Parts: sequence; C-alpha cells; structure tokens
Amino acid sequence: MKNILITGGAGFIGCHVVKLFVKKYPNYNIINLDSLTYAGNLENLTEIENAPNYTFMKADICDRERVKEVFEKYDIDGVIHLAAESHVDRSITNPFEFAQTNIMGTLTLLNQAKISWKDNYTDKLFYHISTDEVYGSLGAEGFFLEDTPYDPKSPYSAAKASSDHFVRAYKNTFGLPIVITNCSNNYGPNQFPEKLIPLFINNIRNNKPLPVYGEGLNIRDWLYVEDHARAIDVVFHNGKLGDTYNIGGFNEWTNIDLIKVICKVMDKKLGRTKGTSEQLITYVTDRAGHDMRYAIDSTKLKEELGWEPSLQFEEGIEKTIDWYMDNQEWMDRIVSGDYQEYYKKQYNQ
Ligand code: NAD
Ligand code: TYD
Repeated sequence: MKNILITGGAGFIGCHVVKLFVKKYPNYNIINLDSLTYAGNLENLTEIENAPNYTFMKADICDRERVKEVFEKYDIDGVIHLAAESHVDRSITNPFEFAQTNIMGTLTLLNQAKISWKDNYTDKLFYHISTDEVYGSLGAEGFFLEDTPYDPKSPYSAAKASSDHFVRAYKNTFGLPIVITNCSNNYGPNQFPEKLIPLFINNIRNNKPLPVYGEGLNIRDWLYVEDHARAIDVVFHNGKLGDTYNIGGFNEWTNIDLIKVICKVMDKKLGRTKGTSEQLITYVTDRAGHDMRYAIDSTKLKEELGWEPSLQFEEGIEKTIDWYMDNQEWMDRIVSGDYQEYYKKQYNQ
C-alpha cells in the first residue's frame, strides 16, 4: 500500500492527476490536500469523491501544523506537489501571495517530508510539478532543455523557479529523494476561465469581446491536460531520482492563430455563420513583461521513459470545446462568483 499526498488536487491539472491515480491504482491511498482557493473546485472530482482509496483534506500548504498532521495521520510516502498560485496576470497584481504559496508552501512540504522520512528515504519520493516559464522567454529559434539556465521573468515564474531551487537544495543538502518536471501550457476540461482557452470559449458563447494582449503574436506550446497527467504517472513511477524532465507537446501556436481556430470550431458548434466569432477579437493593452515564446523539448522524457503526447491538437481542442459546451453549468457557477470582480479589474468592464 502506498499513501500518496497530492497537493492542489481540486485545481485544473491536479483534478486530472487525482482521477487518474484513484482509478488506476486502487491499492494506493490518495490524499488530496487543497485549501480551495478561488481556483480549487471539488466539483472537478465528483466522479471519484466516494472512492474507498480517496480522501480530501482542506488545508493550506503553508500551515505547518496541518501539513505535519497529514504526513503523520496518513503515513505519507509519496508527494505529488501541484498546489500553487498559477495565473501570471494575478501574480502581477499580487506578487506576495505567489511568493507565500509557491515558495513558502513548497518549503513547508519539503521540510515536513524531510522530518517525517528522516530515518529512511527508501521508497519515498517528493515529486514537484513545475513550469517551463522558469526558463524565461525564447526568441524565434530554439527550445527549452532540462539544462537551460533559469531566467524567470514574471512574479509567477520567479516564485516557481524559487520553489524548484528549494526542491533541489533539499536533495543536495539533506538527500531528499526528489524529481521535478517542467511542463508547457496545458489545456483541456476543468481549467479556470481566467486562462486563455476557457476564457475565450466562454466569451464566444456569451458574445463578449475576446481580449487579445498586444498583437497576439506571443507563442505558447500547448499540451492536453490528460497527457500531462499521464506523464506525471510515468515520471512518478519510473523517473530517475534527482532528475528533471521537461514535458511538452511540440505544439507551438501564436495566440492569434490559436484564437482563430477556437473561433472557427465555436462557430461550427454554435451553428453561427463562419467568421462570426472572429469579429469579437479585440486587441487590448499588452501584459506587463509578456514572455514572447515558450517551446519545450521533451525528447528526454520520450527517450528515457517512453512518454509521448497521445492527442493531436485539432482533436484535443475539439474535445476541450465539447467539454465546455456540455458543462455550461460548471462554467456558469464559476463565473457567477468572485470571478466577476476579478474580470472587472483585469479588463475594465
Ligand atoms: P490551478 O490554479 O488550476 O490550481 C491550483 C490548486 O492549488 C487549486 O485547487 C488551489 O485551491 C490549490 N491551492 C492554491 N494555493 C494553495 C495553498 N496555499 N494550499 C493548498 N492548496 C492551494 O493550477 P493548475 O493550472 O492546475 O497548475 C497546477 C500546477 O501545475 C502548478 O504548480 C503550476 O505551476 C503547474 N503548471 C501549470 C501549467 C498550466 O498550464 N496550467 C503548466 C505547467 C505547470
Ligand atoms: P495564459 O492562459 O494566461 O497562460 P500563460 O500566461 O501562463 O502562458 O495565457 C496564454 C497566452 O494568452 C499568453 O501569451 C497571454 C495571452 N492572453 C491573452 O492574449 N488574453 C487573455 O485574456 C489572456 C488570459 C491571455
């Protein structure tokens, strides 16, 4: 029996990881620790909430007492750490919250793992989920590799980079068994509608403007969220201790091209005349310090552990749009809450 602590399991990527592990490994106990910030939603987990090998604990990763309690109560031997503040725009308006959760929260978990596991690191693992944004921004050429020097440029990526450094420092100083993955932009079901793809799907559905930052020429490398969850499963079980793996889809899009694909598919789904949704595109003031291009080279993960993305982008985006169209109540319940306030502040409307 393995007792695995997954942090941030009520969020976008976390819920797919929790669902995969609960269903695929009935002999593991999965403990999901999440403080349920605006981004955490237990509705994402209804299909497994009553599974006998699943437990939810509402707690903050910065709360040392609660973190100690979860390690002791459930005799944790593996951690998959996803809990974080994750949205770049919010990190620009509220950097302190990002430093607190992403750095201090990670440190709190690392330190408790060290204390709880001090006598025996055998069969223990602290798996830290990070982002390609720690590597900074690329020009027109090249890819991020595992040994690309860190050069974070937003408060979000600076806080994630700092947490990665702490994870490696705990390996180097205390011998903690760790592994880190750095993944590119995810898309798919259950993503909070502050991120580009669900925000734009929702705005198209409601005939609202599509706020494109700057000229829309920034490039992101998109990966379907279930492929990320599969990669996490592979690395958790077969990753080399102490190593880093990049995860990405070799799937680069300029924002504006991606937005046009979404508009086209949405016109079809909504039975609107071709070109209707594109008319909603509105160029707005660029994000401060907007990273130009991210592109991940995930060759190491493919060659060493045999992982590859399973979905082509065209298929993934159709599936994603279908999910949001079939789950409109999920979206409506989210946007009727605090999100309205955030939207007004971010987009002046
Ligand atoms: P998300 O914002 O959707 O979810 C974050 C979850 O963490 C939420 O459930 C939230 O309630 C929880 N959380 C936040 N602060 C907490 C705290 N102090 N204590 C306990 N729980 C807390 O994020 P996501 O997009 O699912 O990202 C998950 C992880 O993957 C993050 O570490 C992020 O940096 C990383 N990542 C994300 C992407 C992406 O494209 N979304 C890409 C690469 C890496
Ligand atoms: P986002 O989904 O916030 O992810 P990240 O900033 O982590 O890459 O944004 C993806 C891209 O879309 C990024 O280049 C910023 C851009 N963008 C817009 O043009 N308009 C928007 O309203 C949002 C949220 C993002």
